[in-house]
Amino acid sequence: MSIVVPTLREGSVGLRPIRLRDARALERSLLDNRSWLRQWEATSPYAPMAFDTRSSIRSLQNNARAGHGLPFIVEYDGELAGQLNVSSITYGSLSSATIGYWIAEQFAGRNITPTAVALATDYCFYQLGLHRMEICIRPENAPSLRVVEKLGFRYEGLRRRYIHINGDWRDHFCFGLVSEELTQGVLRRWLDGQAPQDAATVSAEDRAAAAIPLPVARDR
Ligand SMILES: CC(C)(COP(=O)(O)OP(=O)(O)OC[C@H]1O[C@@H](n2cnc3c(N)ncnc32)[C@H](O)[C@@H]1OP(=O)(O)O)[C@@H](O)C(=O)NCCC(=O)NCCS
Repeated sequence: MSIVVPTLREGSVGLRPIRLRDARALERSLLDNRSWLRQWEATSPYAPMAFDTRSSIRSLQNNARAGHGLPFIVEYDGELAGQLNVSSITYGSLSSATIGYWIAEQFAGRNITPTAVALATDYCFYQLGLHRMEICIRPENAPSLRVVEKLGFRYEGLRRRYIHINGDWRDHFCFGLVSEELTQGVLRRWLDGQAPQDAATVSAEDRAAAAIPLPVARDR
C-alpha cells in the first residue's frame, strides 16, 4: 500500500516530503551539525555507517512507496531545518507507527519539533487512520524528553538496550499516544494549553534502572 507524503504547515513550521534534490543541503546540515547530532544518531550494529545522503533519501522514499513510512523535511520559514520520519507504519490490528526527528542546532528552542511532531501525529491519526504513535528517547536526551512532555505523550516504559545509537545498543524511555486519548488532535490540544502536564513523567523506578547498565554476558 503506497501512501502519499503530505505537505503540512502550522505558522512558520512546515513538513514536506523529502526529495532527492534535498541531498546537498541535507548533507551540508548533517556535516555542520556532527557534534550536535552524533550522540543521538541511529547506527548499524553490523557495519560502519556510510554517509551517503542520496541513498538514504532513496531508501526513505522506497519505504514510503511500500506504505511503511512518511519521510519529511522540516522547514522553518521555508528553510531546511531538519528531518522528521514516521517509520514502522503497520496497519490492521496494530495500526501503529514510530516518530524520529532532528533539527540543526541553529533552529533549536523555537518549538519547531513539537509543532512538527503534532502535525505528523494528527496526520497519522486522522488521515491514515492509525491508532497508536510512539516516540522512544535516550534517558540522557533532555531536550527530546521536553518535546514529548510538552505534547502530553504518555510514558510507557523503559526498553533496555533497545536501539543502536552512536555505536552501541542504548536504553530508551518510550512514550505513546492512542487516538482515543484525544478529542481535538495533538496540535490543537497543545496550542490550547490542554496537553496533560505530567503524562510523560518517567517513574523513579525506571530512572534508577536506566542509571545502571544492563549486565551483558562477557563471552559474547
Ligand atoms: C531534540 C530536538 C529535536 C528538540 O527540538 P526543538 O525544536 O529545539 O524543540 P523545542 O523547541 O521544544 O526545545 C526543547 C528543549 O530543548 C532545550 N533547548 C532549547 N534550545 C536549546 C539549545 N540551543 N541547545 C540545547 N537545548 C536546547 C530546551 O530545554 C527546550 O525546552 P523548553 O522549550 O522548555 O526550554 C533537538 O534538540 C535536536 O535535534 N537534538 C539533536 C537530535 C536529537 O536529539 N534527536 C532526537 C532523538 S530522540
